[in-house]
Amino acid sequence: MRWIEVNDYQEMSRQAASLFEQQLLRKPDSVLGLATGGTPLGFYEELVRKYKQGYFSFSEVKTFNLDEYVGLASNESTSYHNYMEENLFSQIDISPDNIHLPNGLAEDLLAECAHYEQLIQQYGGIDLQLLGIGVNGHIGFNEPGTSFHSATHIVTLAEETRIENSKYFHTKQEVPRYAITMGIETIMQAKQIVLLAFGEHKMASIKRIQQDGMSEDFPASCLKEHPNVTIIYGK
Ligand code: F6R
Repeated sequence: MRWIEVNDYQEMSRQAASLFEQQLLRKPDSVLGLATGGTPLGFYEELVRKYKQGYFSFSEVKTFNLDEYVGLASNESTSYHNYMEENLFSQIDISPDNIHLPNGLAEDLLAECAHYEQLIQQYGGIDLQLLGIGVNGHIGFNEPGTSFHSATHIVTLAEETRIENSKYFHTKQEVPRYAITMGIETIMQAKQIVLLAFGEHKMASIKRIQQDGMSEDFPASCLKEHPNVTIIYGK
């Protein structure tokens, strides 16, 4: 595990974008695993800035997002589809065919999970996966107690996660109760992982990865077994 402590948010975003740049230069047809949330906003800005300066292209890149809420249409402002469109996809030369997020409106959600998992394998697995971390240690929407052997699945969001994410909705009641997320095993199969955490409120989670052993009660602790993880953090 490589630990990079940064002094400010900007530096975290720059360091993360630089790892993605190196990946794209090494392998222009990379399969990227992407995250949403507040933490990576600066990272996406930096990635778009470098793309616009001509450092790399997304024309051959494939992406798979970690998760999506169940019940939100992709054009709803609070969906992760919409977040990705606004913060990255609409600003780069990626082909729409190469963009993948779970479909939270699928009629058969279990079949959707199996299909998503199979699609990732079909593309040869994820080369570089971006992660944020919840204050309860969740990665993707894998809440405490999720099996380390889980594949893409449906989750019931923890109450604390719904409260935490309610800032993106008008009211807490509007926050969906369910989501589809890549599983812990799906994430662990990525060849390389970068986890970003910024702010005082995230430091307890970072300390737990650093100091505690592995436990399904703290999902991010699984990363201790991964051969190529970089954690970029600061407060
Ligand atoms: C988002 C995701 C979540 C977030 C986590 C942190 O796709 O999978 O695990 O990374 O909830 O969210 P922020 O960055 O908003 O603190």
